[in-house]
Amino acid sequence: MVWKMVALPLLLTFLLTVSASGTERKEIDLRDYDDELMRDLDRTIKFFEPDIVAKNVEGAKQDAEILVEGFQYTEDYFSKKENAEDAVEISQRGLRSVAAALAALSDSDFDKASASARDAAETCRACHDIYKPLKK
Ligand code: HEC
Repeated sequence: MVWKMVALPLLLTFLLTVSASGTERKEIDLRDYDDELMRDLDRTIKFFEPDIVAKNVEGAKQDAEILVEGFQYTEDYFSKKENAEDAVEISQRGLRSVAAALAALSDSDFDKASASARDAAETCRACHDIYKPLKK
């Protein structure tokens, strides 16, 4: 099918253009940034959804505690920077997602809690797309 050979590259080009122009990267001074906490977050986010899926409520609650600490840190950190309201908003979205996951957990709604956990993981990426230096 010839149209497929034409349409697919066109579609890919379109998607790449959109994603490349979709996020504006910002450069800020990150010398006082807590990389150690970020690495804790990284370890934790990997367990958050799996703990929920495994109905390991205690584990998921512990994960949530660390994630909340992380998002509070980023909220606070970026609220002190110029022109970084988007990062503050993203952090608050992360906090809301973790809170929603906890609320769903206490209702034993594991599907809803998983969806909120995925939202929380999305917010890490959303901030990194704008603020995390590419070489990191
Ligand atoms: C509001 C912004 C923001 C949010 C939210 C955020 N990060 Fe980050 N993260 C950054 C920035 C900025 C850096 C780069 C720090 C630097 O260069 O010193 C970074 C760096 C990192 C690093 C690399 C640390 C290193 O060793 O250099 C990891 C891993 C990481 N983040 C994981 C996460 C995870 C997991 C989440 C979500 C649970 C998350 N981050 C949420 C902004 C954010």
